[in-house]
Amino acid sequence: MKILGIETACDDTSAAVVEDGYRVLSNVVWNQVRVHAEFGGVVPELAARRHVDVITKVIDEALRQSGTSYEDLDAVAVNCRHGLLRSVVIGVAAAKAISYARKLPLLGVHHIEGHIYSAFIENPDVGFPHVCLAVAGGHNLLIEVVSPGQYRLLGKTVDDAAGEAFDKVARYLGLGFPGGPLIDKMARTGNPKAYVFPRPMLDRDDFDFSFSGLKTAVLNLVTGLKNEGAAVNVKDIVASFQEAVVDVLVTKTIRASLAKNIGTVTVVGGVSANSHLRQTLAAKASEHGIRVIFPSLQYCTDNGAMIATAGFYRHRNGESAGLDLDAAASSPLGSENMIYA
Ligand code: KG4
Ligand code: ZN
Repeated sequence: MKILGIETACDDTSAAVVEDGYRVLSNVVWNQVRVHAEFGGVVPELAARRHVDVITKVIDEALRQSGTSYEDLDAVAVNCRHGLLRSVVIGVAAAKAISYARKLPLLGVHHIEGHIYSAFIENPDVGFPHVCLAVAGGHNLLIEVVSPGQYRLLGKTVDDAAGEAFDKVARYLGLGFPGGPLIDKMARTGNPKAYVFPRPMLDRDDFDFSFSGLKTAVLNLVTGLKNEGAAVNVKDIVASFQEAVVDVLVTKTIRASLAKNIGTVTVVGGVSANSHLRQTLAAKASEHGIRVIFPSLQYCTDNGAMIATAGFYRHRNGESAGLDLDAAASSPLGSENMIYA
């Protein structure tokens, strides 16, 4: 079964053709980094306009690369919940038009559900239940994935997502955008023990997160050093900041797995590309006999393949939303907009 997946949550315009939920025939991502770089963050209006400009090109290219025509498709899946609203509607409009014109079932997918299923692309045997840490710029959740389509929210950030903290710290330090990959790379040559930053919410017996205070602690340190005329060792600062973020993410994720007695953990979303997070969680998980699965880097950040894969599992469950995309609306994953400052 071939599904066209369309994803326009934020600043990536993406379309993919995936067969049977795991065979990725194409996965085209039109990244807008250059559009937003000069502003140090995603500008929603510009993102939406860019999606309008490129969406049909991206879909055509996904079909071309996969050697698929519209006649060969069995369904269209689209992210219809969660994201910058004006961005999301561009993908939804394109998917609805294709579904209507080609008489294809339309599958509404929640953006985070898409990330959850990104782990299934290369590991269709992930299994249920499992614990999923979904961590990116617009969301930071711990989820018990009970069965296909059934999610129990264990915890979420009460303010910034980890990716948002990476982006804001990088912007303050003048490193560029997006901050996550830049800090990841720079931190490799810094000393992670140079500064001890707070580990927010670690003393609490729940699975919620908070990264706003940690981000402010970094900004205050840098401002203080500058005011004193002291040297600002950026490498040590970002390494110490990353160490604190990773410590919190890893500790809470392992705790959730142990508390729920669930032996498989997946980590998805843009921040799951972080090399220090991948190494640290893999090491801690193995100490506890927990199986941990990361998607390969191309499926960590937003992409159409994860939407097609999530659509495949929805379709297998007998769902087809038609042109009414309510299926994803009542998800416990929430439907709030992403917040980008
Ligand atoms: O999943 P994604 O493309 O979009 C959202 O759903 O938010 O994730 C983008 C986020 C950005 O905040 C970016 O800085 C972060 O993921 N990110 C990383 C890394 N690669 C991307 N954060 C830390 N380390 C990385 N290597
Ligand atoms: Zn995302």
